[in-house]
Amino acid sequence: MTTAVEALGEDHARSLDATDPLARYRDRFLLPTADDGSPKIYLAGQSLGAQPVTARAEVQAELDAWARLGVDGWFAGDRTWIDADGAVRESTASIVGARPGEVATLNTLTVNLHLLFASFFRPAGARTAVLIDAPTFPSDRYAVESQLRLHGLDPERDLITVRPRDGEALLRTEDLEGAIREHRDRLAVALLAGVNYATGQAHDIERLTAAVHDAGAVALWDLAHAAGNVSVALHDAGVDAAAWCTYKYLNGGPGAIAQLFVHERHAADASTLRLTGWWGNEPATRFRMAESFEPGIGADGWRISTPPILSLAPIRASLAIFEEVGMDALRAKSVLLTAYLESLLVALVPDVEILTPREATARGAQLSLRMADAPRRLAALEAAGVVADFREPDIIRMAPVPLYNTFHETWRAARVLADTAL
Ligand SMILES: Cc1ncc(COP(=O)(O)O)c(C=O)c1O
Repeated sequence: MTTAVEALGEDHARSLDATDPLARYRDRFLLPTADDGSPKIYLAGQSLGAQPVTARAEVQAELDAWARLGVDGWFAGDRTWIDADGAVRESTASIVGARPGEVATLNTLTVNLHLLFASFFRPAGARTAVLIDAPTFPSDRYAVESQLRLHGLDPERDLITVRPRDGEALLRTEDLEGAIREHRDRLAVALLAGVNYATGQAHDIERLTAAVHDAGAVALWDLAHAAGNVSVALHDAGVDAAAWCTYKYLNGGPGAIAQLFVHERHAADASTLRLTGWWGNEPATRFRMAESFEPGIGADGWRISTPPILSLAPIRASLAIFEEVGMDALRAKSVLLTAYLESLLVALVPDVEILTPREATARGAQLSLRMADAPRRLAALEAAGVVADFREPDIIRMAPVPLYNTFHETWRAARVLADTAL
């Protein structure tokens, strides 16, 4: 039995690492180092995931293929470029709970949100409104506003933002449901965050998708902070479509190519409208260079352009690790690790306010912390080699990531905040 005092100690942190079944995966990543070469405590995977060790070899292999094969690299060699994005299809589908044909790897997140709006925001009659949750990541808001204007609509009237109640940081599910019900006659689309970037709150995707459908509208999800972080089941939840970046929990690298999901009831329907380019054409006829577009089957039909092969390479490296570990094991460790950080903060840092929900089902790896003097505390973390980040106006975000962070690192980060408490 560990006593309450022992549970806060360094030995306990080390013993948790000693029994962690995923501990060995840390060595599969290159973690940032200080100028003297000492490893930093990297708790910023909610912003940019760490580099898989094999990413370099994956990129190098593509550079070699380019040098050796030139244009023949598209169809020759042991890993043809023509289906480079298809190589991560199965692993992506299992991360987000999709059927393989429902996911595609393409473009970047905000661009993909625009593509999904082009397909699924079809304002008609009284149904002209889009509902979003707050705090909203600015790019999502900007994208939605521009989509409204594109249709001659006015964001002042047609954009509904559901905010937390006064004095509360988190959005109540029943308030979101209430707003969806209230606007049921004019709602066209809801775009919701799977995990909120600012608070770390995970929304109930299945329940809210059902509420949106009950209102006769389309449910779109931004999974930037959810993919590879929490368990999601997009197909079974009946989500219409979703988009996410791969540079956070999926460790695809800075600005990496992004991914999307289109439910097969839309993706298998050739009449679903989409913005098109030759890469979305059925692969078997793409190179006939015909005048008529033949929609590709599944989410791949949303591709427009030639895929960036070099950007895909690190994602292969990372998703190979996800395939080995599996979301269940990853999530099991994540729940423990984040709860451990939370318990240390509650016990050791009296002036911290944890904005993120306390229940494991309502959050992922990230904790969002509000505390007095946040910039000074962030500077103290930096000085101690802890990488966290700051979001206006007063939030420090930290995510102990189950694939590469340890309990001991988490303990050290909490100690820094304890030592700088007012
Ligand atoms: C929730 C959310 N939406 C959109 C974006 C923007 O992504 P991108 O710059 O890749 O389009 C981000 C980036 O961090 C994000 O966190």
